[in-house]
Amino acid sequence: MPVSAAEVQAVAAVDEALRRELLTCWTDVSNAGGAVGFVPPVTEDDVAPALDELVRRVREGRALLALLTVDGATTGFAVLARAASPLRQHWATVFRVQVHPSRQGTGLGRVLMAGVHAIARDEGLEFLHLGARAGTGADAFYRRLGYREVGRLPGAVRVGPGDDRDEILLVCRL
Ligand SMILES: CC(C)(COP(=O)(O)OP(=O)(O)OC[C@H]1O[C@@H](n2cnc3c(N)ncnc32)[C@H](O)[C@@H]1OP(=O)(O)O)[C@@H](O)C(=O)NCCC(=O)NCCS
Repeated sequence: MPVSAAEVQAVAAVDEALRRELLTCWTDVSNAGGAVGFVPPVTEDDVAPALDELVRRVREGRALLALLTVDGATTGFAVLARAASPLRQHWATVFRVQVHPSRQGTGLGRVLMAGVHAIARDEGLEFLHLGARAGTGADAFYRRLGYREVGRLPGAVRVGPGDDRDEILLVCRL
């Protein structure tokens, strides 16, 4: 699949059809072991409350959805959340970065993050930060895109009994 067929758009309103596609994507990514807030196995019912909270934040203008499509089909997404503080309007947090498992490893994650950065620049943002679960390789993905580690929250993510992972804090200057 040529990456030229891929697009990233900022979405300000999520209708029911898109909500269902996002729900399927997030559930499939989680069940494939993705570090996006869950530990497998999960069902769409498990993921729906988190998605609906995210959709609410987008509707209220507190977050932006960056939607990755390939030939018009939803293939992944990421969320950009502005801080509430007036002192932090040049910063935002990126979270839930994901590409559908059927398309991972083909350059689409790089396309998605380039789109996130373009959207962030359009919004006047200067810095992005995010947290990556240690032991997943996700931090290596972000480091390749210009993010640098600024610290770790030791053992902050309890993946399972006796399996606490650091949250690696990464920052990118746009
Ligand atoms: C992380 C994710 C978004 C990356 O998307 P992708 O389409 O698989 O990544 P790409 O093919 O665009 O890879 C871009 C670069 O990052 C590297 N990379 C991607 N995933 C990596 C990993 N887990 N470990 C090390 N390097 C990785 C690739 O080798 C590639 O490097 P190169 O350009 O130097 O060749 C995707 O794998 C995913 O959705 N994972 C599950 C959800 C998840 O864990 N998200 C992270 C939340 S913090």
